Amino acid sequence: MIVCVCQRVSDREIVRHARAGMGFDDIQLELGVATCCGRCEGCARDIVAQCAASHPVAALHNAARIDVPQGGCAA
Ligand code: FES
Repeated sequence: MIVCVCQRVSDREIVRHARAGMGFDDIQLELGVATCCGRCEGCARDIVAQCAASHPVAALHNAARIDVPQGGCAA
């Protein structure tokens, strides 16, 4: 099913990205969902939230992402 008519983004694409551990903002940047009229944003966010609830490890991975300087750990 197409969720974002403006950018032609399907629910399957959103689910695939969410299951890879991406949050809504990352998915929006990657796919362009909800970047035009914005009418799809609520639905897209619901899909991401459902994936986070059903795949908590991916959501945890996304929440715990830490920026490490290039060249290795700062410790
Ligand atoms: S339907 Fe997604 S931005 Fe318009």
